Amino acid sequence: MNKAMEQDIERILITKEELEEKVAELGRKISEDYADAKEDIVFIGVLKGCFVFMADLMRHVTVPCCMDFMAVSSYGSGTTSSGAVEITKDLREDIGGKHVIFVEDILDSGVTLHYLKQYLQVREPASIRIATLMDKPSRRKADVHADYFAFEVPDAFVVGYGLDYDEKYRNLPYVGILKPEVYS
Ligand code: IMP
Ligand code: MG
Repeated sequence: MNKAMEQDIERILITKEELEEKVAELGRKISEDYADAKEDIVFIGVLKGCFVFMADLMRHVTVPCCMDFMAVSSYGSGTTSSGAVEITKDLREDIGGKHVIFVEDILDSGVTLHYLKQYLQVREPASIRIATLMDKPSRRKADVHADYFAFEVPDAFVVGYGLDYDEKYRNLPYVGILKPEVYS
């Protein structure tokens, strides 16, 4: 374990074991819900934070599906959203008539996913849902909710299991609360 990274963590919020258990449960739930779907299913990962969660989640999804990725930038190196969303990578595949499931690391203000949902709506998918690892409902600004979430978390800045601060800590195997002195 990298000592320097560990020293920046105030406490572990979600352990490796808790992540494994809940993510598997979520994959099974999604599989049940879409078991009888007639239309194609496409999971859209929102880079980069989704990558660890999505890799684990998808191995518990048992229905046939496609995967694609989008990338947005709105955060810079701060810990609160700038509010403006810019798409830096768009989809490669057509989503018309398909069931879209966004895969996100954390739903915070909701600005990003609210924007992305509207952005894709004009391509006329059969449906759009959101699957997020963590939901921070206390910070919601945009009118958007998580159809699927594994953990509800308090208003603290968290890193690990894909989530970063200033592009670091994504490789921690757990979710931890970052010490405020690291970013203040
Ligand atoms: P929203 O648009 O405010 O919902 O922001 C969503 C994005 O902000 C997430 O996909 C994360 O990349 C980032 N984010 C929000 N809260 C945290 C956090 O506590 N740690 C790391 N990234 C976060
Ligand atoms: Mg993100």
